[in-house]
Amino acid sequence: MKLYQTLLDGNKAWVTAKLDQDPAYFDRLSKGQTPQFLWIGCSDSRVPANEITNTQPGDIFVHRNIANMVVHSDMNMLSVLDYAVNILKVKHVIVCGHYGCGGVKAAMNSQQNGLVDNWLRHIKDVFRIHSHELHEIQDEEKRYDRLVELNVIEQVFDLTKTSIIQNAWRKRNEPKVHGWVYSLKTGLIKDLDVSFDNSAKLPPIYRIDSEIVAGDQLESAPLQVEE
Ligand code: CO
Repeated sequence: MKLYQTLLDGNKAWVTAKLDQDPAYFDRLSKGQTPQFLWIGCSDSRVPANEITNTQPGDIFVHRNIANMVVHSDMNMLSVLDYAVNILKVKHVIVCGHYGCGGVKAAMNSQQNGLVDNWLRHIKDVFRIHSHELHEIQDEEKRYDRLVELNVIEQVFDLTKTSIIQNAWRKRNEPKVHGWVYSLKTGLIKDLDVSFDNSAKLPPIYRIDSEIVAGDQLESAPLQVEE
């Protein structure tokens, strides 16, 4: 049997099992989704959002990329975030990293890996920001684990810098933003307790006062053209 055929066969078996349990399962799911959570996780095949949280299709809106990054110029992430926050109105946004993350590991050394290095460069920035703490850790494995955690914390922080999150906080006091790390060795998730639910903890430089500068304000300060 061709390898990919196992997936299609698996799908049929899954449909049969679901319908046995609940004949209306797909009818109900096809009517729409109202997930309460947005998950930003790593693409790693061992960290599937639904399975490790014991949740079902329809429960979590998911965005995954290498090393669960929140890059403010990433249109894919921004589109998912905007849709989840402003249309689906999720109550929680979770950045979930994982120990043993290959992306974080690759960012810790100088080996060239190709295009992905441009993406991983963001993790090197996290290392630089926290270099003092990380250099104090002698054990390389522990330093790696800590960089995984710090990377999650920085991505949570990056979420709170976006106008999407700040405007939502202003309008409806939600969503709460969380940072978690999953252990491949135990299957358990660690809550890093870096939840944010308003802009109070943000350094002033990152605070955005209003959604957009009003047109009349722009007009009241026309450009001075020198003659
Ligand atoms: Co990973």
